[in-house]
Amino acid sequence: MKVTVVGAGNVGATCANVLAHNEVANEIILLDIKDGFAEGKALDIWETSPINMYDSRTIGVTNDYAATAGSEVVVITSGLPRKPGMSRDDLIATNAGIVKSVTEQVVKHSPDAIIIIVSNPLDVMTYQAFKTAGIDSSKVFGMAGILDTARYRSFLALELNVSPKDIQAVLMGGHGDTMVPLPRYTTVAGIPVTEMIDEDKLNAIVDRTKKGGGEIVKLLGTSAWYAPGAAAAQMVEAIVKDQRRVFPVCAWLTGEYDQNEIYLGVPVILGKNGIEKIIELDLNADEKALLEESSAAVRGVKDLLDGMDI
Ligand code: NAI
Ligand code: 2OP
Repeated sequence: MKVTVVGAGNVGATCANVLAHNEVANEIILLDIKDGFAEGKALDIWETSPINMYDSRTIGVTNDYAATAGSEVVVITSGLPRKPGMSRDDLIATNAGIVKSVTEQVVKHSPDAIIIIVSNPLDVMTYQAFKTAGIDSSKVFGMAGILDTARYRSFLALELNVSPKDIQAVLMGGHGDTMVPLPRYTTVAGIPVTEMIDEDKLNAIVDRTKKGGGEIVKLLGTSAWYAPGAAAAQMVEAIVKDQRRVFPVCAWLTGEYDQNEIYLGVPVILGKNGIEKIIELDLNADEKALLEESSAAVRGVKDLLDGMDI
């Protein structure tokens, strides 16, 4: 079984490392446009195999899509982080161009692959890949919700001084400051979180979660990679092992949650066919309003992209 990760930077290399370490696939192709870069990262990962005791092979290639042929899942992390002096429009155009050209190659060499997008701005880059790939939307989706929920769960675990394993949560909407963590669907081993934490502390954690990406950028001067890479790898594992995990995933909505023709984070069942089912929750009026606000923000960026000649 072959899995490809495009982009051997911080997130892509971390994802490949987790995939190899957890033996999610026996062949992991890491591809980058920078000469020798993916080869170097893949070799370094492979050299951990006798230490970490696994036999998944990680192979790096420079823009050689023939090596990716027949991949079951492809994770696309290629794209620039925003640089000083670069407008949001510049970033959208640059990354959409990269996602488009990469997706064309991916579909050409692996027509049956399930494609997971990580590149930002996530919701609209997933839309770009969907438009380019021309395959069913159940096979093209984005990673953000697992990361954002992981941040929310990890902050709650710290505050409550309990294991993060016992915190379960649902989070919806776009990957940005308008994302919608849902306290009503958050539990500590089945106990509603509202029974274990004061409202103002919970609100502060919700707010920190929404700004979680920015918190890391401020500390590191670039965006996060350990949690994003692990999150993307968890999605790959759910697919290749047909685990039918329930995750928040950036999915193409055609009427669900009264949202039409937009990629947005929603809970789904993830299995061997990609998105097996979109789960529709019975949101209350406040939650619906927050989701609508998030959707409007994503739609604004989507309209920008639609207006560009990519
Ligand atoms: P990075 O700069 O470390 O790595 C990006 C890699 O993509 C570079 O090695 C670059 O050479 C490569 N690349 C650029 N154009 C390419 C092309 N046409 N073909 C193949 N490779 C190409 O960046 P990092 O930190 O790994 O982030 C990657 C992307 O993921 C960014 O857009 C970032 O904003 C996004 N991101 C998304 C998250 C999410 O939750 N969805 C979380 C974290 C990052
Ligand atoms: C993150 O949430 C910036 O999308 C990136 O860490």
